Amino acid sequence: MIELPFAPACERNKVPILNRLVGLLPDQGRVLEIGSGTGQHAVFFASRFPSLTWQTSERESELAGLSARVEREGPDDMPPPIALDVSQGPWPHDSFDAVFTANTAHIMPWASVCAMISGVGRLLARGGCFCLYGPFMQDGEHTAPSNAVFDRGLRERDPLMGVRDRVEVDAVALREGLRPDQRLLMPANNFLLVYRR
Ligand SMILES: C[S@@+](CC[C@H](N)C(=O)[O-])C[C@H]1O[C@@H](n2cnc3c(N)ncnc32)[C@H](O)[C@@H]1O
Repeated sequence: MIELPFAPACERNKVPILNRLVGLLPDQGRVLEIGSGTGQHAVFFASRFPSLTWQTSERESELAGLSARVEREGPDDMPPPIALDVSQGPWPHDSFDAVFTANTAHIMPWASVCAMISGVGRLLARGGCFCLYGPFMQDGEHTAPSNAVFDRGLRERDPLMGVRDRVEVDAVALREGLRPDQRLLMPANNFLLVYRR
């Protein structure tokens, strides 16, 4: 039996994120999660929002662990993950009522962040929200010394990674028809950025 991938951070941040999503997600409909990773967020949120269909997605290389998590711990009616690399697709053709992604923007190259926002702009239903969780800079400045250290570590690992600037993300979102709606401060110097189509 495949060992489930596990990220301790997900256990720490899933309740604070849930508490914000409660006021943001629609009562029913379909949510696409991009870069679902271990699936810990997905199975937790899917069980807390039983009227929503929580569609996970990941790059092909990460699908096995995510699929195992969804199958073993997700609600019975949770759909299996779909393969989605935001820079290569294939993007789903149908529309979603909301899109959620956590801790992906600093891992993807900036070009992929732009591709992700563009894809979300295409498939998000009018009035739907795009919730983007993670650490972000503001006007070229880190919002906490710990984020600066984290950012340095990322860029040493891979120069294409790095904590993104919220202002630059907002500018791309606006170009893709997503209006910056809320910027919610979260524990451990993270943000939940909310965009509306
Ligand atoms: C730090 S992990 C976050 C996983 C999970 N969302 C969480 O919060 O624990 C970053 C995730 O982004 C995904 N990712 C990176 N590049 C991607 C791309 N081009 N398309 C889709 N997902 C990508 C990785 O596979 C990885 O699962």
